[in-house]
Amino acid sequence: MKPTNPKTAAVRLRSISRLRPTLAVVLGSGFHHVLSELEVEKKISYAKLPGFPPVGVSGHAGKLYLGKLGGTPVLVLSGRAHFYEGHSMERVTFAVRALAAFGIRDLLLTNAAGGINRNFRAGDFMVLTDHINLMGANPLRGPAIPGLPRFVDLTQAYDAKLCALLHRAGRAGKTKTRRGVYLAVSGPSYETPAEIRAFARFGADAVGMSTVPEAIVARQCGLRVAALSCITNLASGISQRELSHNEVLETAECVKTLAAVLLKNFAKYYGRNQ
Ligand code: HPA
Repeated sequence: MKPTNPKTAAVRLRSISRLRPTLAVVLGSGFHHVLSELEVEKKISYAKLPGFPPVGVSGHAGKLYLGKLGGTPVLVLSGRAHFYEGHSMERVTFAVRALAAFGIRDLLLTNAAGGINRNFRAGDFMVLTDHINLMGANPLRGPAIPGLPRFVDLTQAYDAKLCALLHRAGRAGKTKTRRGVYLAVSGPSYETPAEIRAFARFGADAVGMSTVPEAIVARQCGLRVAALSCITNLASGISQRELSHNEVLETAECVKTLAAVLLKNFAKYYGRNQ
């Protein structure tokens, strides 16, 4: 079957609302509560958007929202397809290509991650300064896409101005925002303590199973990218506890209001800086 062109999904999106945000936010575990702060103008299920993947992790809704957050027009993706679910990289990153075709210029990716940096605590937020891709795959592998760069520069994958806005948004809500390097694995098993010791030596501060493919594709499409992790647990071997998805969800629940305020303030400052 021929893959869907992201432009088809973008045309559909343009037909459902007149709102033309330049900022999009992808909600990972821990960040969905921000939807309660969103003045929703239109909401559409991924199932109605050609090429959008079905989403699997519990608590993720599979819906796209157009609305205003902190007074700023935004497009919000609630839920994402993960590589560990068995989707191809093309499918995992399809929505990002559709957003670029729609006219989004700035993308904020959020996720839950395990803390490797010994100074981190569960419930902290980390603004990504850079990433290490250990997923074993790159979303740009495959035929070259006409009009887009084949070899994408990732020297400044995460935009300094957007990162500064995230830190400012943190300060406004009295939430400390840390900074660090996110290392992406394919999952879905959690890491071994030996892997985490190795990742610490690589220079990683946190580990997770998403975000990096979307960031790479967004850079290929010329979007500015920022990413924010909720440190939902200490990584394997750093924590004395067994790791579980329940722990991830419990921490996410505890900090959901802080996360929502952070995102709302980010959108507000973003709007003022346009
Ligand atoms: N490892 C990988 N992914 C994660 C973790 C972790 O410890 N916590 C949340 N997502």
